[in-house]
Amino acid sequence: MFITLEGPEGSGKSHQISGLADFVRERGYEVLTTREPGGTAIGDQVRQVIMNMKNTEMDPRTEVLLFCSARAQLVDQVIRPALSRNVVVLSDRYGDSTLAYQGYGHGLDLEALRLILGFATGGLKPDLTLLLDVDVVEGLRRRRQSGGEWNRLDAYEVQFHQRVRNGYHELAGSEPERWRVIDANASPEMVQSNIRQVVGQRLVPIK
Ligand code: TYD
Repeated sequence: MFITLEGPEGSGKSHQISGLADFVRERGYEVLTTREPGGTAIGDQVRQVIMNMKNTEMDPRTEVLLFCSARAQLVDQVIRPALSRNVVVLSDRYGDSTLAYQGYGHGLDLEALRLILGFATGGLKPDLTLLLDVDVVEGLRRRRQSGGEWNRLDAYEVQFHQRVRNGYHELAGSEPERWRVIDANASPEMVQSNIRQVVGQRLVPIK
């Protein structure tokens, strides 16, 4: 099973994914977690180029192709081999981030993006996608406060992040069987418990 976590900045995906991995393991499954952009040696190098605060002149189409090149490598080298061994794969972001950020955020054509995504992933789609939904201003505040890496994309204006969040809601609404929306404004414990409830419905314990 392939599960992805999506959401705007500061939605707490990275924190929640490790708790989810424990839960899936307790249910008797082997788990692999990964993150985008990155997740492979080549992908991590591409990540440096995308995130570098000095690359202010980067065109959104360049962003798409870089994200998708890292993703192609991740799918081929990590995700597909794990799925073929029946490992549960949890990814912090995947193709829907490209639709939300470069599509809804930057206004690039969604159909073109879907073609590029299909090419990059060989058509691999998640079985379940959790949208960790957080208020944009609150998310950016959390992000600043966490003291973590403040990257080139975090620095886009608030309206950009608002379009991203609205885009996620459109994506979730257009494929309700794949998406579940989790309120990430709640406490981390509450968010984790809601995530476990959703995933628990799909993963029967095998021990
Ligand atoms: P990261 O530091 O991993 O932050 P986060 O914890 O929010 O995932 O940065 C990833 C950034 O890249 C984030 O701003 C979202 C953006 N992004 C895209 O714009 N398009 C994509 O396809 C992906 C995978 C990420």
